[in-house]
Amino acid sequence: MRYFLLILVLCSVAVFAIAGKRGATSRKPPIEIFPDMDRQPKLRPQTPNNFFANGRSSQVGVPGTIAQGDVYETTPFTTGHVAGKTNYVDVLPVKVTLQLLERGQQRFNINCSPCHGAQGDGNGITKKIGAMAIVANLHDKRIVELQDGEIFNTITYGKNLMGPYGANVTVEDRWAIVAYLRSLQLSKLGTLDDVPEPLRASLKK
Ligand code: HEC
Repeated sequence: MRYFLLILVLCSVAVFAIAGKRGATSRKPPIEIFPDMDRQPKLRPQTPNNFFANGRSSQVGVPGTIAQGDVYETTPFTTGHVAGKTNYVDVLPVKVTLQLLERGQQRFNINCSPCHGAQGDGNGITKKIGAMAIVANLHDKRIVELQDGEIFNTITYGKNLMGPYGANVTVEDRWAIVAYLRSLQLSKLGTLDDVPEPLRASLKK
């Protein structure tokens, strides 16, 4: 009987402690046993925030960002194919400028030279450390003779042992790399006749 009373009292206290004040208002903050993620150091959309120079909490997308599911225009520029055909474009569909080549050089050195080497001869660091045994020499006659569109396609989707780089390199940058790769190839294929007349003498030495 004594135990029964003790248990009854304890149960009453427990029930009161848990449910007794339900519905009552209080100015004190509630006791939180598991705060979970109720309060987070996060930014709410559309609120001012001076962390960024423009004072916004929601930043606009990086230029060139494509939302998932966006309709992707298929033109020779975006696919490397002749419009409406499976043939590759012969010549890159962008204007080759010094700026484009410099961009291509920078992107090539970042994305391609680890395997193909800075000169494109296939002697990159991955070969030296033994991570990749055979890497294509981009000065091979067969590759020199590839159409620009096919090289663009190889960068986008990869080929055999080479993985795809479409996700890492934008469409514009892929063409810039193609242009730069052509200039690398030309640097080995060029003859003295390609050099402007007044400069030839200095090269013969
Ligand atoms: C991780 C190493 C690696 C990187 C990085 C890499 N490649 Fe390759 N690439 C290869 C290998 C390996 C092959 C040979 C593929 C084969 O035929 O098995 C190859 C082949 C090629 C070919 C010849 C394709 C053909 O038709 O035979 C081209 C062109 C090429 N790469 C261009 C590039 C360009 C441009 C980049 C930079 C965007 C790049 N690669 C980055 C490893 C790489």
